[in-house]
This record gives sequence, C-alpha cells and structure tokens, in this order.
Amino acid sequence: MSTLLVLPGDGIGPEVIEQVRRIAGRLINDLTIEERAFGGTSFDQFGTPLTEEALAVALGSDAVLMGAVGGPQWASAPRDKRPEAGLLRLRQAMGVYANLRPAICFDALANASSLKREFVAGLDIMFVRELTGGVYFGQPRGIETLADGSKRGIDTQVYTTSEIERVGRVAFELARGRRNKVTSCEKANVMETGLLWREVITALHARDYADVTLEHMLADNAAMQLVKNPLQFDVIVTDNLFGDILSDEAAMLTGGIGLLPSAALGDPGKPGLYEPIHGSAPDIAGQGLANPLAAILSFEMALRWSLGRTDLADRLQGAVTAALDDGARTRDLGGSLTTAQMGDAVLKGL
Ligand code: IPM
Ligand code: MG
Repeated sequence: MSTLLVLPGDGIGPEVIEQVRRIAGRLINDLTIEERAFGGTSFDQFGTPLTEEALAVALGSDAVLMGAVGGPQWASAPRDKRPEAGLLRLRQAMGVYANLRPAICFDALANASSLKREFVAGLDIMFVRELTGGVYFGQPRGIETLADGSKRGIDTQVYTTSEIERVGRVAFELARGRRNKVTSCEKANVMETGLLWREVITALHARDYADVTLEHMLADNAAMQLVKNPLQFDVIVTDNLFGDILSDEAAMLTGGIGLLPSAALGDPGKPGLYEPIHGSAPDIAGQGLANPLAAILSFEMALRWSLGRTDLADRLQGAVTAALDDGARTRDLGGSLTTAQMGDAVLKGL
C-alpha cells in the first residue's frame, strides 16, 4: 500500500486536485490519499503555510502532490509566513534537489504555441532544475538599512561541488534514456558559481558520462535559443533561478502552461514532490475554468517516479493524449470545457 499526500493549497489548487482524486480512484486501488492544508490556506487556519504535522506526513509518504500556492490576500503576510515560503521550506526539508520539468508539445496543441508549428512540432525538452540551493536559499540575505538611511538588499548565489554534481548526475542519467544530449546552462562568463558549475559538470561528464553529448550554453543565450530553435534541446540542466525562468519560457512553446507537470526528486527511496508548473491563478479560482491537466500529469509523474507504477503512468498519459486528440479543451486552450468536464474526458480515455 503506497501513500500519497495531496496539498491542494490555494487558488485553483483544490479544484485541479479534485480531478486527480477522481482519476486516482479509477486507476489504482492500493493507494491511500492523505490531505493537508498548505500555503495561504494553511496560514489562515494555523498561522503558518506549512505545519510541522503536515511536513511530517509529507516525509512519511511515498509521494506528495501539490496543487498551487499563493494569492494577493497573503501578499502582506510576514515574509517567512507567505505561501511561497512554505513551498521553499517543503522542497528543502524533503531534499528534492532535482526538479524535472518536461516541456512537451502535444501534437493536437502545436497550433496553440506562441511559435509556428514547424518550430515546436515534436518538442520534447526535459529541464532538470536544481531546486534546493542557489540564490533561493543562499546566506546572507536580507534588506538592511545603511548609515544614510537608504537600504541595501542582499541575496547570495552559492553552490558547492556536491550540489552541482548530484543534479548533473540526474541530467546525464535521464539523457541516456532519451536522445543522449545534455545542455548545461549558467553564466560562467560573469558568475563564480557559473564557473564552478561548468567545471564540475565537465569533470563529471569526463569521469562517468563520456558517452552522452554535453554542451555548455550561457543562460541568456539559452533563453534566445529556446525561441530560435527549441528542437535542438534534449535535457537542459541548470541552477535554481535560471531553471525557474527558462522553464516558464519553454512552457509557452508547448501551447499552454496549464498542461505542464513537474517532479522534484531527491535521493533514491525518498518521497518525490510533484507540482503543476502553473500558479494559483486567483483570477479564475473557484469558477471551474482551470485546466486540471498539469495536476493530472503531475500525478502521472508520481506514478512513474515514486509509486513504481510505470504501467499506470503510461495508461494515464495515453488517456490525456486521447482526450486532447478528441478535441477536449479548457478555456486556456481556446475551448469551453470546465475543470470537471476535462476530468471526465480523461476518465473516458481510461
Ligand atoms: C515555480 C514557482 C516557485 C519558484 C515560486 C512559487 C516560489 O515560480 O515553482 O517555478 O520560484 O520556484
Ligand atoms: Mg516559476
């Protein structure tokens, strides 16, 4: 019996997670689903975006599936109590350092991309974003007041050899099962961490992965290449901040951020954290307009990477593809299906 903890969170989170529950109920018998408040919803109830109890349940589960966090009503909460702080704490406490963000263009949606079909048809990029280090967590950080009364804001970008190596390893291993190419992105031309990143990835490649094609690319150039010729990429490995930015950019190439899942993985045997890439979309929350596919595909990744059910993951992937081929579209994809109707369309394919 496996355990999945769902954290519906804020905004459209609860409604998209509801569709995952329906699908999980149809697909798998021996799965216990736990649920806890998270993000702003947890802050309102318990005064913190992530309770110690919810964290303990997360660490004891086989996988954790999050809906979305954040919203304007918590913008003025103390910084360490904001929904986003709960997410960062969860990622760090779970030790999920490798964030897999596939950017796949479903054939039925190639016309919805912001690029012409010929640039994105067949697109299949796997981002491996470092998730528990870098400028998101580096110390010192803060805003201090200077002698003249003006202020200074500080963030610290910091990476160690082992942090770079372990995420690099994930990228090379993944590439071997794909098109065998890794593009490593940093700013080695201006940043010390970028220089170290390049050195460590180069050495790791020479030592253990010489059979994989490795290419280094400056992150700004990668941003350009993603819109110029996205089909050149297979696996892209990069740090926390560049990964945040480049994966959003790539999402737009696929025809919709409402479709993209992610998996955050730590050391083997530890629970993975699964999240749709989209945010909490407070403007449409509670109206049944949200696209549940990113959450459904995040569950698909959980089946594959944490729950040991590749067979069911393949079935679910097939059902999503079939629903899209059938013309199922929520509003973000130019259609008129409600969140639940999109869930129905996937259920039909199962
Ligand atoms: C993401 C989000 C988060 C991040 C926010 C919500 C903290 O943008 O998962 O990409 O910056 O990592
Ligand atoms: Mg982001």
